[in-house]
Amino acid sequence: MTIPRHIGIIMDGNGRWAESRRLQRALGHKQGAEAFRTLAYYCRDIGMDYLTVYAFSTENWKRDKSEVSAILRILEDYLIEAIEKMAREGLRMRILGDTAPLSERLRKLIAEAHAIADTYTGFTANLCVNYGGRDEILRAAKKSSETGKTFEDCLDTTGLPDPELIIRPGGEQRLSNFLLWQSAYSELYFTNTLWPDFTPKDLDKAIKWYNERDRRFGGR
Ligand code: FPP
Repeated sequence: MTIPRHIGIIMDGNGRWAESRRLQRALGHKQGAEAFRTLAYYCRDIGMDYLTVYAFSTENWKRDKSEVSAILRILEDYLIEAIEKMAREGLRMRILGDTAPLSERLRKLIAEAHAIADTYTGFTANLCVNYGGRDEILRAAKKSSETGKTFEDCLDTTGLPDPELIIRPGGEQRLSNFLLWQSAYSELYFTNTLWPDFTPKDLDKAIKWYNERDRRFGGR
């Protein structure tokens, strides 16, 4: 069985998970963050190098103010915890996306997490926050023309291998502006399971499915 080096996940279905239990949507996101925590440790343990998840898109600002602030608050709490224990747990955490519009507090926490991640190597969990694939491509094109660096060196994912596999729980079958450049040859796996219910067993199933794919990259 080949374990992909890099898997991307669109964490969809938190709202429906909560609503079906007559809970507030924010509680679905909280449970979604727990599913992420469990899965990140699992990815580290099975020898993956990168897990990249879509936590907050450039379009998610359109949601109710209370839901937006609940998601950002969960992120904040998560980062505080990560800063405290990520080095001990052999897990690096990075934020991808345009962080400029985020609160100063959140940007400080992100800088702190990145500074710690820079001090060692090993499994990395990337959280996409205020991330959109088109926005990333535009920012990279601008930066590349201003600095003369190659386009790929200006992407948020610079230095990372492209994800071999992208997983979308929650029943929809689309990319929704996630890793548009990097997903050119990714295998796409969809499942109806809602994200808060997604377990390491579901990841095993997706990896098994991935192993049955015939990847040709345009060749024969
Ligand atoms: C999509 O479900 C999920 C989001 C827009 C937010 C995801 C955010 C988190 C899991 C919390 C922060 C993450 C971490 C890992 C600290 P949806 O709300 O669109 O669900 P629905 O389609 O059922 O309404």
